[in-house]
Amino acid sequence: MDRKSWQDKVGYHITPDYGLMNDPNGLIKFKDDYHVFYQLNPNGFVHKNKSWGHMVSTNMVDWEQQPIALHPDSWFDKDGVYSGCAIEHEEKIYLFYTGNVIDDGVNKSYQCGAVSEDGQRFEKLGPIMEHPVGYTRHVRDPKVFKSPFQADEWYMVLGAQTNDLKADLLVYKSSNLLEWEFLYNLRSDHDTELGYMLECPDLIKIDDQYVLIASPQGLKKEDYRFQNRYHSGYFICDFFEDGSIKLLQPFKELDHGFEFYAPQTFRDGNQNILYAWMGVMEDEQERLVPTIESSGWLHNLTIPRILELKEGELRQQPAAVLSQLREGKGNKMTFDKAGHFPLQSLQTEIILAFEKETDQLNLTLDRLFSLSFQLEEGVLSFTRQSWVTDEKEQRKRLFDGGMKEVRIFIDHSIVEIFINGGACVFSSRIFSRAGSTNELSFEFSKKTSSMSLQVFDLKTVDFSAKAINYV
Ligand code: FRU
Repeated sequence: MDRKSWQDKVGYHITPDYGLMNDPNGLIKFKDDYHVFYQLNPNGFVHKNKSWGHMVSTNMVDWEQQPIALHPDSWFDKDGVYSGCAIEHEEKIYLFYTGNVIDDGVNKSYQCGAVSEDGQRFEKLGPIMEHPVGYTRHVRDPKVFKSPFQADEWYMVLGAQTNDLKADLLVYKSSNLLEWEFLYNLRSDHDTELGYMLECPDLIKIDDQYVLIASPQGLKKEDYRFQNRYHSGYFICDFFEDGSIKLLQPFKELDHGFEFYAPQTFRDGNQNILYAWMGVMEDEQERLVPTIESSGWLHNLTIPRILELKEGELRQQPAAVLSQLREGKGNKMTFDKAGHFPLQSLQTEIILAFEKETDQLNLTLDRLFSLSFQLEEGVLSFTRQSWVTDEKEQRKRLFDGGMKEVRIFIDHSIVEIFINGGACVFSSRIFSRAGSTNELSFEFSKKTSSMSLQVFDLKTVDFSAKAINYV
C-alpha cells in the first residue's frame, strides 16, 4: 500500500509543520492576540525532545506560525519542556511548565517559569518550587489561575502521583507568581478512583460553578466509558479559599471519539474556550498514522470550543468565530426519511437539524466513518476504519433522549461531531485505504417529519510564518 495515496493535508486545524504535536499549552489572549503553544517534537515522530511550539492569531481562525518559544536546553528541562499554562501579569506573559530531566534513567521533574514582554521571546526563570514530599517524579502540568477570593493572588493546580502510585491533584498558592506555597491535595479527603496518574488539570469557573477538568490515566475500560488509552473529563466541584476542593459529581468524559486528550481552557471575555490534543493513540497506531510518511506531521489540535454548563453538564460548542471559515452561503436542502449528498470536498461543515427529535439515525460518510443512534437502545456509536488493520472499530456511549441536531466539522483526516448543542462530542482521525467517494448518506426515523441538511465548504488557512512586528 502506497501511503502517499492517503489524504494527508488538512485545511484549518492546527498541526505542526513537521514533527509530533501533543497537548495544547499556555492558551491565552494577550493584548489583542490569541496565543496557542503546544507540545512539539520538532525533530521526529516519537515522544521526545518536547519543546513549546507557538502560533498566534487575532481571531482564532487565521494563524501565524512563530519560532519555538521554549527549547529543552536548560539543566532543569533538558529532556523535555513539558505541558503548562500562561498567565498575564503587569503586561507580561508568564509561562509555567514542567521541566523533565532524565539522569541515569531516573526521571525528575521541576515546575518552572518563563516570562515575556512581547509575547514572542521568552526568558526562562528556572524552577519555582521544591518537589512535594510523598510523590514520585510524576508531578507535572501546572495550571495557574487568578484567585477568585483575593486580588493579587494566584492558585496553581498540578497533576501528581503518590509514592504508592495513585493519582492525585495538588493545589498551591502565590502572591507574586514566583514563590509558591503548598495548600492541599485532593486525595487527603477524597477516595474517588482516579487511576495511577492525573495529567493536565484545569480548574475553571463557569457561571458560578467550579469545574475541575483533568486527564486521569489508569481508569478501567467500561462498555460505554473509558474506551481509549487515557481519558479526559471533568468533575463539577466546589473550590475554597484554603485551596480545598470538594467533588460534587462523578467524573464525566468530555468526548467519546477515539482521539481527544489533555484539553486546556482559557478565558476570552466571559467565555471559556477549550482546545484539546487529538492524539492519545496506542503505540502501533501512532507509529502508523499516514500523515507521518505522506507529509511529515503527526497529530493536531481540536477546533476551539466554547464551554457551557447546562443541566449540570458541560457542553462544547464550536467557537462562533469558526463561521469565518465558511465559503459562500452553504447548500441547504430538506430530506424526508433518508437521502444522500456528495460532498464537494472534505473540508466541510455539515449541519443536520431535525424538525422533531429523531429516535433513530444512521449517517455514513462513505468508508470514512458512520454515526448511528437508536433511542430504544439508548446508545450512540461512532465507527471508523482502522488505518492499522483496515477493520472497522467503534466507540459507543449511552445517550438519553432524542437527537435534534448534528454538527460536523470535517478536515480531510479529522472529524469533530457535536450532537444536540455539544451535549455529546466525538473527535477522531479518519483515513480510508480505499479512498473515499465523499458520499454522505443518512436515514432517520419515519416519525420525524423532515431533516434539513446544510453544507458549507471551509476555507484553507495559511499557517505559515509572516512577519509580526512586536514593539
Ligand atoms: C499529556 C502529557 C503531559 C506532559 C506532556 C509531555 O499528554 O503526558 O502530562 O506534560 O504530555 O509531552
